[in-house]
Amino acid sequence: EKGGYEHFMLKEIFEQPRAYRDTMSPRIDGNRVVLPDVGLTADIIRGIRRIHIVACGTASHAGLVGKSVIEQLTRIPVETDVASEYRYRDPIITSDTLVIVVSQSGETADTLAALREAKRQGARVLAVTNVVGSSVAREADHVILTMAGPEIAVASTKAYTTMLIAFYLLGLYMAQTLETVTPAYVADTLAAMQKLPEQVEALLGKADLMKKVAEQFKTTENLFFIGRGLDYAAVVEGSLKLKEISYIHSEAYAAGELKHGTLALITEGTPVIALATQEALFEKTLSNIVEVKARGAVVLGIANEGHTELSKTANETLYIPRTLPLLTPALAAVPLQLLAYYTSLARGNDVDKPRNLAKSVTVE
Ligand code: M6R
Repeated sequence: EKGGYEHFMLKEIFEQPRAYRDTMSPRIDGNRVVLPDVGLTADIIRGIRRIHIVACGTASHAGLVGKSVIEQLTRIPVETDVASEYRYRDPIITSDTLVIVVSQSGETADTLAALREAKRQGARVLAVTNVVGSSVAREADHVILTMAGPEIAVASTKAYTTMLIAFYLLGLYMAQTLETVTPAYVADTLAAMQKLPEQVEALLGKADLMKKVAEQFKTTENLFFIGRGLDYAAVVEGSLKLKEISYIHSEAYAAGELKHGTLALITEGTPVIALATQEALFEKTLSNIVEVKARGAVVLGIANEGHTELSKTANETLYIPRTLPLLTPALAAVPLQLLAYYTSLARGNDVDKPRNLAKSVTVE
């Protein structure tokens, strides 16, 4: 059942090229996105004035990427909330609000309650879920299915990355309808998306490097992830993944915020994982790496291929294949998943069933 892998998590990490292809290929027709059966007509899309993305845990981290993607492509304002907070903060929900709920299982209690509250207040609800016929899928007005296939490990991997693919498709679909981007932009982005599966394969081929870094970091009790923009969104998920299965305390920080407090915690030997795939922000993140190094941090730097200068500063470097800036989270996720996996393994933990956690959280 584990297909020759030692754990479900590792199997699911390695299934991602297939999962990406299955999630995107039925929705790409030549140079355009098609979302058959979703029911988002041009009139509906033109009527949307604001978007709320609501989810828990890893799904909410996919939502952070989704916010950037949709805002950049459509210029419609997007807010993100964790579902356990959403309905208690009296959110402003109007009939021209689209509420996007994101849930692998489609059964998470808080997410389902948020969906019901949004509908009660008259919003249109779109669900991004991995499970056909789940409660969330049944109750939403529109559904985009991720095609990750069953996910067994408690730590979500392929479900998260296919949620990202769903957001790229949705953002492009809305943008091509609203004409907020050119047809050439849509075509270029789709071409780049179609290269992601083989780029993920290339990253899976570098698993040994993540295993080596995991050996170095396994005895630490504290660790930091830093990044800016979409890299920040990506490290928030990387940090949760590591915490959840390694039990190492870890924090994800917007790199520019370090000076405002966190730098006090960086001492000799503190591991820092710095993600710097956003070209426009590379130099700024690099200077944050220099700052933490000066305080004794041991840095794993991750950047796009070609940025060899990173190797002069970081202790270990991983280069990821070039893609469009918007798409890098779908690549950066993979080494961060592998790092979490190998760290958990090195610490002798139950990788697939971490303590205190359940795969599906059906109580509030
Ligand atoms: O099934 P859902 O996507 O609604 O689950 C939400 C969270 O419980 C889930 O993502 C959780 O954070 C994972 N264990 C993270 O790996």
